[in-house]
Amino acid sequence: MSARQRTVGIPLETMDIPVSPEPPKFGSDVTMSPFQSSSKFRMDIPMSPAPEVRNGMDILMSPDQGSKVNMDVPMSPAGQGAAAVELVSDPWDEELISSLLSKLSTPLTSQPNFITWQCKVPSIAPKMTIKMGKGSLRVDCVLGQGAFATVYQATDLNTSEKMILKVQKPANPWEFYINSQLNARLQPSVRHLFNNIHSAHLFQNGSVLLGELYNCGTLLNAVNLYKNLSDKVIPQPLVIYFTVCILHMVEQLHNIHIVHADIKPDNFLLGERFLENKSFDQDNLDHGLSLIDLGQSIDMTLFPEGTAFTAKCTEMQSGRPWNYQTDYFGIAGTVYCMIFGTYMQVTQEGSVWKTNAVFRRNPHSDLWTEFFHTLLNVPDCSSLPCLRSLRSRLSTVLQQNYSNKLPSLKTRLVIQVLESRTARR
Ligand SMILES: Nc1ncnc2c1ncn2[C@@H]1O[C@H](COP(=O)(O)OP(=O)(O)O)[C@@H](O)[C@H]1O
Ligand SMILES: [Mg+2]
Repeated sequence: MSARQRTVGIPLETMDIPVSPEPPKFGSDVTMSPFQSSSKFRMDIPMSPAPEVRNGMDILMSPDQGSKVNMDVPMSPAGQGAAAVELVSDPWDEELISSLLSKLSTPLTSQPNFITWQCKVPSIAPKMTIKMGKGSLRVDCVLGQGAFATVYQATDLNTSEKMILKVQKPANPWEFYINSQLNARLQPSVRHLFNNIHSAHLFQNGSVLLGELYNCGTLLNAVNLYKNLSDKVIPQPLVIYFTVCILHMVEQLHNIHIVHADIKPDNFLLGERFLENKSFDQDNLDHGLSLIDLGQSIDMTLFPEGTAFTAKCTEMQSGRPWNYQTDYFGIAGTVYCMIFGTYMQVTQEGSVWKTNAVFRRNPHSDLWTEFFHTLLNVPDCSSLPCLRSLRSRLSTVLQQNYSNKLPSLKTRLVIQVLESRTARR
């Protein structure tokens, strides 16, 4: 079973549990198994199944399952005109992940902020105080629940610093590994665009990641805020603005050979910078949007150059080899959700994949149609679209039409975000 298919529910209990860690045992604490040749093989490419049309959904619920309805991403048959590709079946295969972690030149267990405990995950629930190592953390509230983990807000009682606890069963050391690669490979000036994990606590049956808190909600929350307003959806200038930011972020990640593999509106968070920033420049890095949840990410540097995957993840039901395409699909789905306030569905017309978008009175219908066409119709792994040129087209439209409108539209959104934050407390 691939890691993506796991859904975890964690019962919440209220109690104080002090636990202290065993000293880390190098190399022996993460379950590791030898590389299985069966998890990596060459194979014939199955043909895409007939697209199945399901109903769209009007109310956006966070997170997951609903966002992945009736999807299939087209790619041309393998090998056509492309350099010989190495095919790997499932990049999330548990044995493959264990094997990759066991072969790291610097084992995770040698990092001082990767702490292994010889006990089960402590109960964690709002109002509890938990002791981890030196610090005492008060659990404030549940921030969100994804398909894999429950995320809590916590406060360090010594420093008053607020943070998140991402609690996941079984343990997910991979997200910590990807985080360490972001630290090593990203320029410091763009590091804040991605989730920052301070430390990982690995227990026998689960993990707790301590990380940075973004306290202005998700992009999905922002989409939903407009449903109660006369606009009903995010105004076009802001959609284009956020799209420019998103393209920039994913470009940075792909530049360091990391595929996020779970791009969607509830994995983009708005942080404090979003409230403060007044610049709408396309290269401005203080926009306050951060991409979180790198638990399913793929480090392409751990595979031979040109590796493509054949696992059927929800986006790639066609079974054609893919690598970065899953993120293009994620960007398309996220932008679609901002434009329409509903989840994207795609269908195939002839050999062309289209969204169910109907652009009534949208001043940029041609731009968006081409945008979705580009992201959904990637010919093969060696003909990937250029995110930078997509971004610069959108950025030109933004500057030519909306530079004077953006500040007031953003101020209105900031007020909505602050009001909903107050209401949550
Ligand atoms: N750093 C964070 N700051 C604030 N909220 C967060 C943070 N990380 C996660 N969340 C909330 O928790 C939800 C689930 O977190 P996520 O890391 O995406 O878990 P999963 O791997 O289960 O999808 C997010 O959609 C968001 O609402
Ligand atoms: Mg998530």
